[in-house]
Amino acid sequence: MGKRILLIISGGIAAYKALELVRLLRKDGITVRAVLTDAAQQFVTPLSLGTLTEDNVYTDLFDLKDEREIGHIQLSRQADLVVVAPATANILAKMAGGIADDLATTLLLATDKPVLAAPAMNVRMWLHPATQRNIAQLRANGVTIMEPDDGDMACGEYGPGRLPEPQAILGSIRAMLAAPLGEAQTATARFGQNPPPLRGKHVLITAGPTHEPIDPVRYIANRSSGKQGFAIAGAIAALGAEVTLVAGPVTLATPPGVRRVNVETAREMAEAVEAALPADAAVMVAAVADWRAEATGQKIKKDKGGLDALPLVENPDILAGLAKSPKRPGLVVGFAAETEKVVEHAQAKLARKGCDWIVANDVSGDVMGGARNRIHIVSAAGVEDWPDMEKDAVARRLAQRIADELTD
Ligand code: CTP
Repeated sequence: MGKRILLIISGGIAAYKALELVRLLRKDGITVRAVLTDAAQQFVTPLSLGTLTEDNVYTDLFDLKDEREIGHIQLSRQADLVVVAPATANILAKMAGGIADDLATTLLLATDKPVLAAPAMNVRMWLHPATQRNIAQLRANGVTIMEPDDGDMACGEYGPGRLPEPQAILGSIRAMLAAPLGEAQTATARFGQNPPPLRGKHVLITAGPTHEPIDPVRYIANRSSGKQGFAIAGAIAALGAEVTLVAGPVTLATPPGVRRVNVETAREMAEAVEAALPADAAVMVAAVADWRAEATGQKIKKDKGGLDALPLVENPDILAGLAKSPKRPGLVVGFAAETEKVVEHAQAKLARKGCDWIVANDVSGDVMGGARNRIHIVSAAGVEDWPDMEKDAVARRLAQRIADELTD
């Protein structure tokens, strides 16, 4: 039997994108039943949704006719997956608090099915501690929450909070449905009758910076954007691998088909890496903070010597630890950001960390946070120099290089 989705649309300007999502889902052979909140009906109509889903559209908790025919509890049980897209700050808050005061939130409280939420809201609302607390609570409750996209907003501001693109939501939906119908179709389209080259392989990736708390309000951070690591995770998943992405604090959207584990500190990253083993390959792209502070429980005051006496402790080297571990993946790849003597330093790092390849990154220009990258692959076999490329192109070429290595 085909897969069924209960799509809950809450009220924000991004609600119009839900129509495109429904179209993509239907194209994938997925049945969609839609629920609109009152606010969502200001942006899309039951008529347009009903036309696309070819089904009733549900809006009212106390609709006598609907209740006689199906009953609202049934609605929440008859789907394989419940998707909230767009998920406003308001509906996320209600979900986190267990509030059921309309049809959508009642279904969300009554469901026993996995739930995926794709948030969309103003950047300030997204970054507000109340929303972040609700997101953390929902994740702890087992709800999968996509990271919103970064960019210009309908309200004229810029930053994280945009609804992820319908194609990206589709990717997450496919990944959450046990038999990813769409993936099989795409794989056939891309690889003909051959299975995708990394099918059956598990690849572990770290990406982004780490944040090391100094006191309750300050932390040590670095300029890593996470873009290169996320692009690599997406490119490797697109070759059919099961991918675990251990991500530091960044607001990037999770690439389709990738299992993401969010962490803050180097020690949390080390634990998440250990917990994700065994893996066939590991690609450590994260810019892990080399040191952490002995965090104090209280805010450090200026007049008490400030940060002068801040004792720093070295963090565990996750890459070196993994390369020495009894559970060492067959292929361990490290990254090195260098500003001078790029290859020479990378060769020293290769030996020191005990990994198989170092992807050396020339960061003397504006690579950190930028879209392009110039790299050299340094291994015992020698050095490959790659031309200056978009980070996405680097990711695809590296994914293919890893596939060649693992399938040789
Ligand atoms: N790395 C890690 N754990 C750390 C530090 C680094 O896993 N605590 C990994 C990074 O993810 C990257 C590689 O090691 O793959 C590069 O580390 P880098 O910080 O450049 O190496 P260092 O040994 O700290 O050398 P440097 O003196 O250049 O800082």
